[in-house]
Amino acid sequence: MADLVSRHNDVIAPVIAFDTDIRAVEAQGIWVTDIEGRRWADFACGTAVANLGHNHPTVVAAAGAQLQRLVHSGCIFRYDSIVEAAERLRRITPDGIEKFAFANSGAEAVEAVVKLARYTSGRQGVITFRGGFHGRTMGSVAYTTSNARYRDGYHPVLGSVFVSPFPHAYRWGMSNDQAIDHSLGELRSMFKHVVTPKNIACFLIELVQGEGGYIPAPSRFIDELRALADEHGILLIYDEVQTGFGRTAEWFASVHYQAKPDLMAMGKGIANGLPLSAYGTTAERIDSWPVGAHGTTFGGNPVATAAAAAVIDVMEGLLPHARELSSHAMRRFHELAERHQTIGDVRGLGLMIGVELVEDRHTRTPDAKAFKHVQQHVLDRDLIIIDCGPDGNVLRFIPALVTTHEELDWAIDLIDDGLGSWETTKG
Ligand SMILES: Cc1ncc(COP(=O)(O)O)c(C=O)c1O
Repeated sequence: MADLVSRHNDVIAPVIAFDTDIRAVEAQGIWVTDIEGRRWADFACGTAVANLGHNHPTVVAAAGAQLQRLVHSGCIFRYDSIVEAAERLRRITPDGIEKFAFANSGAEAVEAVVKLARYTSGRQGVITFRGGFHGRTMGSVAYTTSNARYRDGYHPVLGSVFVSPFPHAYRWGMSNDQAIDHSLGELRSMFKHVVTPKNIACFLIELVQGEGGYIPAPSRFIDELRALADEHGILLIYDEVQTGFGRTAEWFASVHYQAKPDLMAMGKGIANGLPLSAYGTTAERIDSWPVGAHGTTFGGNPVATAAAAAVIDVMEGLLPHARELSSHAMRRFHELAERHQTIGDVRGLGLMIGVELVEDRHTRTPDAKAFKHVQQHVLDRDLIIIDCGPDGNVLRFIPALVTTHEELDWAIDLIDDGLGSWETTKG
């Protein structure tokens, strides 16, 4: 029989890109085993999803037990796991996020939360921030600007979506304050020249841009957005699809910020790999969204919500370890930056770390070839890493929260090696 990869390519659309040709048969914790018994450490974490490590036994047991009892409701009857998951979400989300609805993917949660904002505010405009990623469905792609190619072939995208700069001090060669002031100046100018604030339902923002290159939003920028939102009656939506569930070594990235959102979207790590997403806001707002204004067949599936409740129970105990791992990893990457000229910038929040690789530190020219070299170097030595950023040059370091200190050091040592090998090749 033909190899799995050629069978895959024969019947699966190439538009859905796979990062490696690893033919996985099982995964446990950070380790994925292939068809030949070779083991790989997944530091891509299933693209920031398996935050508890693959097949976490407690989550698998909870989902398995639910699978035996009740797989599906389709909004016909009530069941306990959806309530259990939402009660836990209420406990761990920021103050003011009180009541929830579920969906199946991040894009779906983002679309729904924006519909909720538009419907309940009676306004239709949406402001997003350049470099943001919010999904690729026809609605969410209009909010996504991490890479223009995501819109190729789909114009015109949804109207009344306005894109404002997201402060990127490093890429702009500015200080943090200059980048914040520039971004706010552009936003105010947009209110003057393009659209008046009374048309705007919501700001939609990632606190750490993910696909856009792992760029944390400066606190003052978020504080000022909060103030502008309050001044003009605009709702502030945090897209915490990638930053949630321990990724920043806290429940959510919003824990690191003072300003609180009016609404938020969650996904990815919520059920450690089962398809689930959620969004929430105040009870008053969500209760004013009438029956039938939105709906779903599979969203909040019994098995996926049972897994989500278990994820939250398990994750609670892992956050202190995640914080330790995070400060250790940050320290080590900063130390690598002292030795490797290829590293232009090290940034991130918690266990969401971006290492930007450049051809030259002065020009900051992105170096995607350097990333590819390092990626292959570590892959040959059983470590999986992926990139982010529009230029493919940001090493995305997203270990699972269950990673040990030894495993973390091993992975960073390999990256160190890979950078050394690139610098030798380059001469
Ligand atoms: C911040 C953010 N929002 C939304 C999405 C879309 O999620 P999904 O791929 O589950 O539709 C992603 C996916 O990477 C994301 O990172």
